[in-house]
Amino acid sequence: MSAYQRVLSGVRPTGHIHLGNYLGAIRNWVKMAKNSKEQLFCIVDQHALTTAADSKNLSQNTRTIAAAYIACGIDPSESAIFAQSHVPAHTELSWYLNCFAPLGWLNRMTQFKDKAGKNKEGANLGLYAYPVLMAADILIYKATHVPVGEDQKQHVELARDLAGAFNNHANLKVFPLPEPIIEKNTARIMSLRDGLSKMSKSDLSDYSRIHLLDDPDIIALKIRKAKTDSDPIPGTIKELTDRPEASNLLGIYAALSDQSIETVCRNFEGQTFSSVKQELTDILISSLTPIREKMHYLLQNQDEIDKILYRGAKIANTLAEKNLREVREILGLIPRADQLGKL
Ligand code: TYM
Repeated sequence: MSAYQRVLSGVRPTGHIHLGNYLGAIRNWVKMAKNSKEQLFCIVDQHALTTAADSKNLSQNTRTIAAAYIACGIDPSESAIFAQSHVPAHTELSWYLNCFAPLGWLNRMTQFKDKAGKNKEGANLGLYAYPVLMAADILIYKATHVPVGEDQKQHVELARDLAGAFNNHANLKVFPLPEPIIEKNTARIMSLRDGLSKMSKSDLSDYSRIHLLDDPDIIALKIRKAKTDSDPIPGTIKELTDRPEASNLLGIYAALSDQSIETVCRNFEGQTFSSVKQELTDILISSLTPIREKMHYLLQNQDEIDKILYRGAKIANTLAEKNLREVREILGLIPRADQLGKL
């Protein structure tokens, strides 16, 4: 029996896909996909429009993320890989969910506060409503498990609350309450320049993150330049408290070598960061080179990627349309002509 019924997750096609996306999310998807009944992995291109719409590069960024999913190990013959904008039911459901979302819930979303910054009045409505569209991404498939990094936990919890609110309205269990699945050790990969901020696509410095498409010499340079401290590596994880950059680099090494941080500390005890950085560079290069090469190979053949996206969208649309019909009926809308008799 599969451990997971229906797994869904997504990445926003803005900026460069990076090590945090891989270790915090996609690597976990690959593990879960092997143990689930159905899996859907979306490239959330409409979400990308909420921050500085980059229309010149959006379609290419979307294909690059699709290539990354496949290169990281998502098998398109077993999982639906698709673009959010190819399944219109997401945005339709998000409107219905908007009508169940108290402003108080949205005002609590920390990502909106971070992204809007001091200029809240100037932020666009799409950015504010983003978590409701994300809830629709999940609920339109009645997804049961949502593998994400720590920063998305609050959004998945909002999806649970909205599912509950809709179920109460319907007096029926229409949506299962989706569970966030967060891999503890890689939940928050931090910036290479500042161990207190997370590695992010939007950081202005390229040196803050490793891109999945970085060449080995760039990886080596970024790790050489990564911020550290001058103390030797301690033998226990407890002594890493208050050393955020050191914890981050050792955490990345532990994740890529499939060891616990405790074991890594014991193995490097007493050494300085220059030797750790060499080993970290080696393991990053050996782990990311096959991914980079496969991404480049896939990206040479755009038509193939588009075929995979169209096939994924066909599967996703079938599931989504069925659930949307149910929602529309509960809400009392007159059935669409093409949906008559199909419930
Ligand atoms: P996005 O595109 O910012 O990130 C994609 C995934 O990568 C994880 N992640 C990280 N994990 C660990 N350390 C980091 N430094 C790090 N940076 C990013 C994120 O937690 C995420 O899992 N709102 C979402 C996209 C989305 C979505 C969805 C996800 C839209 N609809 C439905 C799941 C289900 C986002 O912006 O992720």
